Amino acid sequence: MNETLERWSTRRAFILAVTGAAVGLGNIWRFPYITGENGGAAFLLLYVAFVLLLGLPVMMAEIMIGRAGRRSPVQSLGHLAAGAGASRHWRWLGLFGAFTVFCILSFYSVVSGWSIEFLIASVNGDFVGATPAEIGAGFEAFLADPRRMTFNHTLFLAMTMLVVAAGVAKGLERLNNLLMPMLYLLLVLLAGYAATTEGFVPALAWLFMPDVSAVTPLVVMHAMGHAFFTLAVGACALMAYGAYMPDHQSLPRAAGAVAVLDVTVALLAGIAIFSVVFAQGMDPGEGPGLMFVTLPIAFAQLPWGALWLSVFFLLLLLATWTSSINLAEPMVATLQGIGLKRGHAAAVVGVAVWLVGLLTVLSFSSLAEWRPLFGMNAFELVSTIPPEIFLPLGGLLIAIFAAWVMPEAAARGALGVGPGGFALWRGLVRWVAIPLTLVVLVAGLV
Ligand code: TRP
Repeated sequence: MNETLERWSTRRAFILAVTGAAVGLGNIWRFPYITGENGGAAFLLLYVAFVLLLGLPVMMAEIMIGRAGRRSPVQSLGHLAAGAGASRHWRWLGLFGAFTVFCILSFYSVVSGWSIEFLIASVNGDFVGATPAEIGAGFEAFLADPRRMTFNHTLFLAMTMLVVAAGVAKGLERLNNLLMPMLYLLLVLLAGYAATTEGFVPALAWLFMPDVSAVTPLVVMHAMGHAFFTLAVGACALMAYGAYMPDHQSLPRAAGAVAVLDVTVALLAGIAIFSVVFAQGMDPGEGPGLMFVTLPIAFAQLPWGALWLSVFFLLLLLATWTSSINLAEPMVATLQGIGLKRGHAAAVVGVAVWLVGLLTVLSFSSLAEWRPLFGMNAFELVSTIPPEIFLPLGGLLIAIFAAWVMPEAAARGALGVGPGGFALWRGLVRWVAIPLTLVVLVAGLV
């Protein structure tokens, strides 16, 4: 297949698209609860270190491959491997990425559906005057109701696949332009409000004063997996977006901007959520329900709380939408590559993801105790193994391909940097990112 001619219309559009992919449940839902389960500040520090040392250079590698290949991930890898005289089997990396995002999207869609439920509830004013206990009980009741959850999952996935079927670049650009600044503003307001509550100081202490004794190889592996997950790196999904990147845009600067935006969203969300946790005497390790319980509690006490909460869930929903569109893209591109029409490919992917997503839905009710592997139920499996093992593994292979397999001239051209910058990037990938990922993966698995 030939090179794609489609491009994001401006540099800003590309940065916003990648930020839209990166910012989502990972920052606002997953980051706080994983940090809570892994002891707070030490985990946060590790995660930020991994973003800088691994996430950022590998993100550059991934986007670079996409821009160099200008095809779907599978075809870009095959084409570039052939050009480098390397094995055509590198194409399988694209398929592995598609499999990874398939697993991730199956739970991502279900949890994004929770935001739909909460958006409707907050528009209805259901949380007004509710006590923390009532809010907690309401959430439990929702989790135990597979029909409501399936309805929301279906709605969310349909929204996603419709945009994907229409072709990514055009539809996304307009959405991203509006969404990101608004989400930021609201999180800043929320963190500002948190600063006036008694939970603020304990929250800062919990987030920023590390307790080194809490660090185990498993905690380190969780932090690494989360760095990949939150940056959307390791599954060739950003590679797919890189194919549409304009020629004369600085890739390192774009990737750096995305990483900074992504981490600050997580920090703002963390500050807001943990302030509530500590003000209410809740358990930081409460798990996947953390955000869904704490934020309604916080907003319930604010003037115009129902309105703010509705706006928040609306923005969260839009943020998860742009992320899930990115998650779907590699699969649809792959199927298109074997000859399906884009609309058909989107339909096939949608139905398959929907079916597997039902396992996550039922993991909160009838299948809660069905633990087929490693003592984890279906939701725990799809929300743990792909982010923490598949993404680092995919990232590792992407890094090896970019820094060892691709000829220097091709890599440097697509990266768009001078000789000094290239040496720095390649040194970081070859001698830091690759060994570090390997060591953490092996230590975590052992
Ligand atoms: N980064 C997104 C989030 O934090 C999730 C995501 C979108 C993703 N695209 C991805 C994760 C590709 C892995 C690979 O919510």
